Amino acid sequence: MPKPVTIVILAAGLGTRMKSRQAKVLHQAGGKTLLQHVLDTALALAPPERIFAVVGHQAAEVRQSVAGAGIGFIEQTEQKGTGHAVGIGRDSMAHLDGYLMVLYGDCPLLRTATLRRLIAQATEGSAAGVLMSALMDDPTGYGRVIRDPRGAVLDVVEQKAGTPEQLAIREANMGIYCFRADLFWKHVAEIQPNNPAREYYLTDMPAILTRAGHTVEAMRIDDAGEALGINDRAQLAQVDAIFRERKRGAVMAAGVTLIKPETITIDSAVEIGMDTIVEPFAQILGNTSIGETCRIGACSIVQDSTLADAVEIGAFTLVNKSVLEHGVHAGPYARLRMDNHVEAGAHIGNFVELKKTRMRAGAKAGHLAYLGDSDIGAEVNIGAGTITCNYDGHKKHPTQIGEGAFIGSNSTLVAPLEIGAGAYVAAGSVITQAVPVDALAIGRGRQENKPEWAKKRRKLAKTVEAIKTAD
Ligand code: UD1
Ligand code: MG
Repeated sequence: MPKPVTIVILAAGLGTRMKSRQAKVLHQAGGKTLLQHVLDTALALAPPERIFAVVGHQAAEVRQSVAGAGIGFIEQTEQKGTGHAVGIGRDSMAHLDGYLMVLYGDCPLLRTATLRRLIAQATEGSAAGVLMSALMDDPTGYGRVIRDPRGAVLDVVEQKAGTPEQLAIREANMGIYCFRADLFWKHVAEIQPNNPAREYYLTDMPAILTRAGHTVEAMRIDDAGEALGINDRAQLAQVDAIFRERKRGAVMAAGVTLIKPETITIDSAVEIGMDTIVEPFAQILGNTSIGETCRIGACSIVQDSTLADAVEIGAFTLVNKSVLEHGVHAGPYARLRMDNHVEAGAHIGNFVELKKTRMRAGAKAGHLAYLGDSDIGAEVNIGAGTITCNYDGHKKHPTQIGEGAFIGSNSTLVAPLEIGAGAYVAAGSVITQAVPVDALAIGRGRQENKPEWAKKRRKLAKTVEAIKTAD
């Protein structure tokens, strides 16, 4: 039977160096908040009822950001140090048996596999706790790990409190621990704020447990970068770049071609099918899922959308909150603003904007159109320059166009409006009334040709000029 693990995520700090009105853990890297990354990692290791977040700064917003996860929260109204932050969770966590793992909300890069190793070392051995460490060329700012000759951890000394000899130690504390829960709760109250910062340091636990006759071990990781904590915007950008690279690696491994991958941005939750090709500078964001053999054009942005197989998105196209079925073409330079559903084989060309519109199978809008709050029937052809006038200054109104209708170029369709199946609208029309099935609607001034008019005008102009010079 694997021993159960409770996970506590420290996320109460403000993050002064971020210089932000927003709590640090709510900043995003790789398309997710820092806290969400850590939580997703935690959820791979423990059920939500065994996961707790310590919140303080902007507690309400931080809680809200992960509200759906079903985890517990511990409020730390005053940030008195990492030892205090875990300690106040006693009522919520001390009755939970097994092990207690401590994670930081601002360390989003840690991999599940690395934490599994930490848990395994703690649960399979006889130590009272295992802390994660790394050998660093420059461990400045980190706590240093003090070991006895046999390798057991005696203490962790913080940068501010260390002697020169202690600060020369290159083994740094990553701040991630897995303790035996019973021993942790038995001894946590022994942490005292007797350090220059007057804080309760969680890093005092190794010394406390050692004094009580227990052993604490360290688990070294090869890459200290995995435990990189974010303190400022530069580190945020660094971590974002790492997530982007990890994601690009994952989609390429799954059979997606990325052209100039270093320029492409793909959020963590995105899914992309085999043999899809993504061109340079494309951004695929949010909860987007893309099928197989699609092509996502250069500089296009696809967000919170679902694309079936064989969809082609041309360059510089924006797709937001939309569903595109098999074989749809959109762009270049198209904008699918929100809540659109484009059925199989439909075509949306350059400078066409769609909003809350259903394009049924095979419908086409090739150039320069605005289709809002509309239902465009199967195989309809929308001419260049067609505009649905969906807004009267107060309300939005729908436009419905029946199957196979033909809308001539530069038509102005004043909603609410229904155009019957198979009908024609003459180019340049302003249509304000319903058009019956199979009818032709013309709503424009009739053309009149005046023979010889131009010739006469030129002659008249010449005569006027002659009189003027005579004067
Ligand atoms: C801590 C460790 C240090 C380690 C480093 C690794 C201590 C005393 N030191 O230092 O040995 O090398 O992490 O990154 O633990 N937090 C709260 N409430 C508090 C204080 C902190 O929730 O009262 C949260 C912070 O928001 C942050 C995390 O705990 O997410 C770590 O706190 P921080 O003050 O950054 O600790 P470090 O000085 O980095
Ligand atoms: Mg820190």
